Amino acid sequence: MLHVLPGQSEYISKTQAGGDMDDTGMAEKLVRVLQRPDGDTALRPVHTFGISATGFFEPSPIAGNFCVAEHFNTAKTGVIVRFSNGSGSATRRDGWSDVRGMAVRFHLTDNRDTDLIAMTLPEFFAPTPKTFLEFAEEAAPAPYEGQTPWQKILSLIQLKLPKRDPYPGETISPDDGAIRFADQNAYAQLGVLQAATIGAPTSYVRAAYHAVHTFIVTAPDKTQRWVRFTWQPIAGVLRTDPNLPPVDDYLDAELQDRLGKEPARFSLMMSIGEIGDDFEDPSRPWPPHRIRVMMGTLTLDAVSKNQLELCEKLSFNPGLLTDGIEASADPVLHIRKESYEISSEWRGATPCPFSQR
Ligand code: HEM
Repeated sequence: MLHVLPGQSEYISKTQAGGDMDDTGMAEKLVRVLQRPDGDTALRPVHTFGISATGFFEPSPIAGNFCVAEHFNTAKTGVIVRFSNGSGSATRRDGWSDVRGMAVRFHLTDNRDTDLIAMTLPEFFAPTPKTFLEFAEEAAPAPYEGQTPWQKILSLIQLKLPKRDPYPGETISPDDGAIRFADQNAYAQLGVLQAATIGAPTSYVRAAYHAVHTFIVTAPDKTQRWVRFTWQPIAGVLRTDPNLPPVDDYLDAELQDRLGKEPARFSLMMSIGEIGDDFEDPSRPWPPHRIRVMMGTLTLDAVSKNQLELCEKLSFNPGLLTDGIEASADPVLHIRKESYEISSEWRGATPCPFSQR
């Protein structure tokens, strides 16, 4: 079934119409600000710990009606996926509450690849590169202390949520700065609240991952739709019990063990935006009742054998798109293309798909 959205193609982007475009040097500033004092410049500045797995993507019978991209019109497309923790700390803390990442590379014919990068946070912290830089500066990890029971009671009397207790071994955290920033900037409130309550998944394949930005997909009849993608785990979403002591290192072993027994699957869901939805601000949600199309199933059946080359050294890039899928005018999506390229170069990764080296 084709759903034509009146007026979508007449949509004029705020950015194209002359929005905040002075982003000189911004991509590099963003990478620098993300580097944590307890990080390692030889590794990714965020999403530092990860594991990759391989498998294939099969489109749903209706996917080709909505998008001409090759992987929505080919019976089976090979994929590599890197799952990751969000933190840029060089110490692994699987059991801590944190955003998780799922970067998917579809291997198309003629050695062309296309990437879809997603995370467990449904909305981003800021609408533009400049506001994200301001957010990241304020949320730079700083010494973190919990509250005494009396301070917690005082917070409750003042109708404020008491601070969470630090995890064992946790000395610095972005939390205080992020909350301070959200207090002053309404657009950051949804992302900060969601990040604060996100918890830890029991498995990398028991979490839902959102690509967050809006993309424009083209159908065979040339209809264009403004859409957002989400991976939904077939095994269902399940978090660890926050009342139990956190375990530092379990997610890689869990995936190895699970895929050794049976494949893991995700559905790729595509929400179709409507007039009035924000097409270029990744910090703003769309109404939950937007039409959602099931675009296909991802099956993962093996953990990659060479985790150095096929995980640590790999470079994903949200700008690596293919015919039939375009970036919207979202300025955060656009700056990420260069930021990831710079980061990949700095950490000596396999050249980023856009690198001139
Ligand atoms: C201006 C905003 C952003 C900046 C500057 C930024 C920056 C970065 C950088 C520098 C890396 C490491 C790249 C590498 O060394 O290969 C990275 C990785 C990652 N980012 Fe972002 N990011 C931004 C927004 C987002 C958003 C909105 C998402 C979710 C859709 C996201 C999800 C991820 C994931 C999943 C990874 C790990 C990719 C991998 O496994 O290699 N980021 N980010």
